[in-house]
Amino acid sequence: MEQMTAKTEKKNGEGVKLETLKITDSRTGKQYEIPIQNDTVKAIDLRQIKVNADDFGLMTYDPAFMNTASCKSKITFIDGDKGILLYRGYPIDQLAEKHTYLEVAYLTLYGELPNKEQHTEWSEHIRLHTFVHENVKRLMEGFRYDAHPMGIFVSTLAALSTFYPEAKQVLDPETRQKQIWRLIGKVPTIAAFAYRHSLGMPYVYPDNDLSYTENFLSMMFRVAEMKYKPSPVLAKALDVLFILHADHEQNCSANTMRSIGSSQADPYCSAAGAAAALYGPLHGGANEAVLRMLDEIGSKDKIPAFIKEVKEGKGKLMGFGHRIYKNYDPRAKIIKQMADAVFEETGKNPKLEIALELERIALQDDYFVKRKLYPNVDFYSGLIYQAMKFPVDMFPVLFAIPRMSGWLAQWQEMLTDPEQKIARPRQVYLGYQKRNL
Ligand code: CMC
Repeated sequence: MEQMTAKTEKKNGEGVKLETLKITDSRTGKQYEIPIQNDTVKAIDLRQIKVNADDFGLMTYDPAFMNTASCKSKITFIDGDKGILLYRGYPIDQLAEKHTYLEVAYLTLYGELPNKEQHTEWSEHIRLHTFVHENVKRLMEGFRYDAHPMGIFVSTLAALSTFYPEAKQVLDPETRQKQIWRLIGKVPTIAAFAYRHSLGMPYVYPDNDLSYTENFLSMMFRVAEMKYKPSPVLAKALDVLFILHADHEQNCSANTMRSIGSSQADPYCSAAGAAAALYGPLHGGANEAVLRMLDEIGSKDKIPAFIKEVKEGKGKLMGFGHRIYKNYDPRAKIIKQMADAVFEETGKNPKLEIALELERIALQDDYFVKRKLYPNVDFYSGLIYQAMKFPVDMFPVLFAIPRMSGWLAQWQEMLTDPEQKIARPRQVYLGYQKRNL
């Protein structure tokens, strides 16, 4: 219907470099000049392109947001072709090596790493909010013994909204801050309770002498010890895994957090929605799906047949591919390097051999090479979680705990951005025009 010719032009006006996109509408012959800022054009600027005065104007069509920036952000940067991931400018490998998850959570939320004083205050606030109301515990007891822990996790997050009605004041910075402490403090407790529920074991209350990840391990695995002392190697490995999962810019769940939050819903409901988005096997549920896939493959000799089926479209190689990374996911690289230290402590996960061979074969295969499909964060994380004795259906929950800080950082940035409004996409309506019965 229409043809556009586009050209980028640079002008110098009063020292300001103005870049524009020139469009010719073949329907009318009219020309338009659309400003380019930060390598984007504003979709709303296209609305002026009309066939006549009654025309609604031109829109963009972009299912699954393949080429649409929904916000401006200063939190996380990814260069998918080069396999680079930065939180507030710092490379993920440096943060994983030199910092703790709580420091990184602070960084994603507030823009800088905490100094000593800020760190003490921040950790203290989180520690103060690790306990949940006894009624939250009772509510969780109502789930069936075999309920998936992610279902329990999502529902309990939403239920927290009823315990903190003041959280609705999302435009008040102090109220927001309190909910941030609460959510980061309580998610490990809710996650561990969900696990204990599935075992029919008594819930273990937080031990605030321990670090964030040590306390989580204690709530998960403590049985009759007077004082549970988690392995420092495993607590550190979990902390690194938490850093790697803290944020990942505008992924499906972050976009959900922003979208629900844009209606000014409270952060518990928004986070429950984000966690629900994370639960899907194409997103945070992929780590669970990888382990189930490795179980199904069973042995190295079955890999060629499995790969053949994937190439015939009969399933996916879970833990491979990414919307943004067209190179090795830097998080997967760090996890793979860390695996040795963990397996030295826990003994090797027998599925590691299958995973390594699967990766080796896939990375040489034309199908995966052509499509630039590489291992993502979920390919190896599950093997480590399993070696640490986490059951497979806890894997998405293990993703959700640290992602809470990223969701909250994205939520806060959205609420304080004067350009943001309630998220409300348009549609291309292809149904009937008005017709009478
Ligand atoms: N196995 C086999 N083929 C694949 C895979 C895979 N894992 N991923 C993508 N492809 C193919 C896909 O079939 C398509 O082929 P064709 O061009 O012939 O139609 C091509 O590669 C492009 O894929 P796409 O589905 O258009 O890519 P997308 O950006 O929409 O999807 C993805 C990204 C992550 C959903 C997808 O790669 C996938 O489903 N991977 C497996 C699930 C997974 O590991 N998810 C975790 C993502 S990382 C954690 C997170 O951030 O959530």
